[in-house]
Amino acid sequence: MIRIAPSILSADFASLGSEVAEAEVSGGDWIHVDVMDGHFVPNITLGPPIVKAVSLHTKLPLDVHLMIESPERYISDFAAAGASVITVHAEACVHLHRVVHQIKELGLKAGVAINPGTPASAVREVLEDVDMILVMTVNPGFGGQAFIPNTLRKITQIREWANEVNPDLLIEVDGGVSEATAPLVVSAGADVLVAGNAVFGRSDRAAAILEIREAAEA
Ligand code: DX5
Ligand code: ZN
Repeated sequence: MIRIAPSILSADFASLGSEVAEAEVSGGDWIHVDVMDGHFVPNITLGPPIVKAVSLHTKLPLDVHLMIESPERYISDFAAAGASVITVHAEACVHLHRVVHQIKELGLKAGVAINPGTPASAVREVLEDVDMILVMTVNPGFGGQAFIPNTLRKITQIREWANEVNPDLLIEVDGGVSEATAPLVVSAGADVLVAGNAVFGRSDRAAAILEIREAAEA
């Protein structure tokens, strides 16, 4: 089963409540929330109060993608704000294994993300511990960027390793996902597709989600 996670980075930030409610009725499976600190990535977005506010407008799981330095300092705040999945970047964690277990001990799903320039081997030693690996298919920081095709081989590699050590592992992809690139990432082994511009950049969100889903499942 393919999950589609509309990313509110491309939504109208002044109307987030109605934007996430619309993503839910339009067939989204998770709501993807991009947290940026202006240090790990060259952009600043939102923090726990906004996650809390968004959580009051949807029943969908909130998939919180932390693009921040020292994420261990904020995990309990995002959990309290209503996150269901918290993903940290391997590049931002000195003690990655510890941070993953910090997330799991709060009863949440734990994810680890890797940038396009980071090898798959960066997550090899935590594959048994995590619920999800997020393979960035653009350099994080902004919506609406072009998909980087070389990332496909990492998806394939991680799926191969996971088949041996953690068959239930979810692989999420984030960046440049559209009806054109969805079939590529799914055939490589992805099962959660984040889509920002491809969903919130269109007025008909239901049609956008349906088109990505149909392309992914074809
Ligand atoms: C980028 C974010 C993405 C972003 C994707 O740093 O992590 O979640 O919203 O946007 P699109 O789908 O427009 O590439
Ligand atoms: Zn993201």
